[in-house]
Amino acid sequence: MKKNKRDFLRLTDFSAGEVDALLKRSLALKRRWEKGLPDRSLAGKCIGLIFDKASTRTRVSFEVAMRQLGGSSIYLDPGTTQIKRGESVADSARVLSRYLDGIVLRTFDHTIVEEWSRWASVPIVNGLTDLLHPCQIFCDLLTIVEKKKTYRGLKVAYIGDGNNVANSWVEAASMLDFSLTMACPKWYEPDAQILKEAREKVKGRITVTQDPYEAVRGADIVYTDVWASMGQEEEREERLKTFQGYQVNANLVEKAGKDALVMHCLPAHAGEEISAEVLESSRSIVFDQAENRLHGQKGILEFLLKTFQPQRSQRTQRVKRKE
Ligand code: CP
Ligand code: NVA
Repeated sequence: MKKNKRDFLRLTDFSAGEVDALLKRSLALKRRWEKGLPDRSLAGKCIGLIFDKASTRTRVSFEVAMRQLGGSSIYLDPGTTQIKRGESVADSARVLSRYLDGIVLRTFDHTIVEEWSRWASVPIVNGLTDLLHPCQIFCDLLTIVEKKKTYRGLKVAYIGDGNNVANSWVEAASMLDFSLTMACPKWYEPDAQILKEAREKVKGRITVTQDPYEAVRGADIVYTDVWASMGQEEEREERLKTFQGYQVNANLVEKAGKDALVMHCLPAHAGEEISAEVLESSRSIVFDQAENRLHGQKGILEFLLKTFQPQRSQRTQRVKRKE
């Protein structure tokens, strides 16, 4: 069936040209917001948020983004919907597509968002899975463009766990003109398949080492994330031991470029992956970064919800059901 909607499950769902256009539009929306100018581009539109994991930034920034663009949102606690009681993704997605103009999902296995994307006739946005966190990295690119004028030609150093945030960085580096050097302990590298495909696309621009000092040399951006992500709580003690030596602290940041900025998607565990000193230092831009979740996601929402008009009733797919 021909799809007349777009999803944002991973960075590579957008072309490089679209990323640039959306960054530009997001910045323009931010400037309007700073001047107190109202926007109504999503008036009458409503998105649903279905979160299987905790969230502060993603949930609130998406909800506020919709309101500031004249639309609205509904937070659907999975525990109080029929989803938790076993209603299938195929049925839930087809029903919710009759009411909503888009759905933001945060869940565990990435195949779940792919399944929603298959059945929903409205855009599905990945608000974080175990594999990827594309909204985060898109909005981080916005912060980098604001602070450094461009991401082009920069060197981003990612220090720590090769997790969902790291995987989305790899995808970003596979399509945009910047270099990415990652320092991860052995066995904690980014997803092997994502890394392989990315490296095939941009030979030599994505490097993985076990040495954080090597990774930050000459870096414009030093980025880190927690050592134990949501869902890995049981591995926490073991990970704390494994990741010793991978903390972004003053000693490490000193070895980066002289104007290097420090980023973290938050929430942070000060004293673990990042020292309290660096987190609160003048190089740290983590709160500007958090704010830009709001502005970047406005760009994403406008693009997905305005560009494509779902024809709901004509487009409902049929399932072969077992008797
Ligand atoms: N960075 C981020 O996604 O934060 P939340 O988990 O609070 O949404
Ligand atoms: N890697 C972290 C990111 C949180 C925004 C996690 O998945 O918990």
